[in-house]
Amino acid sequence: MKAEVVVVDKKNPDPEIIEKAGQILKKGGLVAFPTETVYGLGGNALDPMASMKIYAAKGRPSDNPLIVHIAELDKLKVIVSEIPEKAGILAEKFWPGPLTMILPKAEIVPRETTGGLDSVAVRFPSDPVAQALIRAAGGFVAAPSANTSGRPSPTMAGHVEEDLGDAIDMILDGGQVGIGLESTIIDFTEEVPVVLRPGYISLDMLKETIGEVKMDRGLLITDSSVHPKAPGMKYRHYAPKADLAVVEGPEEAVIRYINTAADEAEKKKKRVGIIASAETASRYGKGIVRSIGSREREEEIALHLYEVLRNFDSDEVSAIYSEAFYTPRMGQAIMNRLLKAAGHKIIHLSQEEEK
Ligand code: TXA
Ligand code: MG
Repeated sequence: MKAEVVVVDKKNPDPEIIEKAGQILKKGGLVAFPTETVYGLGGNALDPMASMKIYAAKGRPSDNPLIVHIAELDKLKVIVSEIPEKAGILAEKFWPGPLTMILPKAEIVPRETTGGLDSVAVRFPSDPVAQALIRAAGGFVAAPSANTSGRPSPTMAGHVEEDLGDAIDMILDGGQVGIGLESTIIDFTEEVPVVLRPGYISLDMLKETIGEVKMDRGLLITDSSVHPKAPGMKYRHYAPKADLAVVEGPEEAVIRYINTAADEAEKKKKRVGIIASAETASRYGKGIVRSIGSREREEEIALHLYEVLRNFDSDEVSAIYSEAFYTPRMGQAIMNRLLKAAGHKIIHLSQEEEK
């Protein structure tokens, strides 16, 4: 099967195209579509066969639950058995938007969609193409990120075609996404709500709105005996083909360390990849240097992270070194994805090494 790739106008999606894509989903097929975070691989969330097709297309383990996307607030009560007050407050404030909530599931949601769990992840995306498609499909679209399991999430339609072009029915090309990192996930099945995956909506923004919110311990501790609660967070995701290490410390020390590594690789007739900021990119003399964006504009860094990792996959690099990006608001989300891609390999440089 070769996916039909159709360009859609984000602001004003052609109703005929949306209708056609909606029909594919209603009949149990798969359609990839843009959201404000990353591209999603959509199937009818209430059809167990469609969910199984999603797992097969991605090569994803079927115990890793899918997010159900809705396009009207009213639809939430159809798929969950309870809406805690604080979940209602977050929905009012952040939906439509890059926030996913885990709630107890209603009978109607098949276990194939929830990876066998009694809870369901729900998101109401803000992207107009996503919203139109969800409505045309009957209101409930299960959609993981539209990448092959283990590869960086897609931020443009070309990435989806690269990974899934032969495995799905249609790709709606709505151009580059807005955010570039997956939604923040908050779990309401515990006493105190817990963030299972950091994203554009930060822990502070959540706390300001509903009070106490915890961060999943599995995200904070890199000890392998503590597993993150979201099944998908335990896999080595977003992995580039070459080994990736994050180098952290005073700027000058980081630049010197990476330059030395690039130099040594070159002597062995090898090349390294370097992920730098716009401010430091020109300070690296060897290897393939990619600027991820300016430290002054952290949204730029979030938006380019997956694209940069993907691009290194098509280069012959023996290793990749990345600067660390602990930016003020999205730093938690950016570093969570970058460290996962690096399999938690981090090189800490102290003040000493700067001399
Ligand atoms: O931004 C996003 O959320 C994108 C777009 C397409 O909406 N979707 C996305 O889906 O990132 P996916 O499948 O790649 O990631 C979903 C994450 C996984 O880590 C999964 O384990 C977790 O959510 N998850 C889903 N349902 C869950 C549940 N009931 N309990 C705990 N974790 C859950
Ligand atoms: Mg994913």
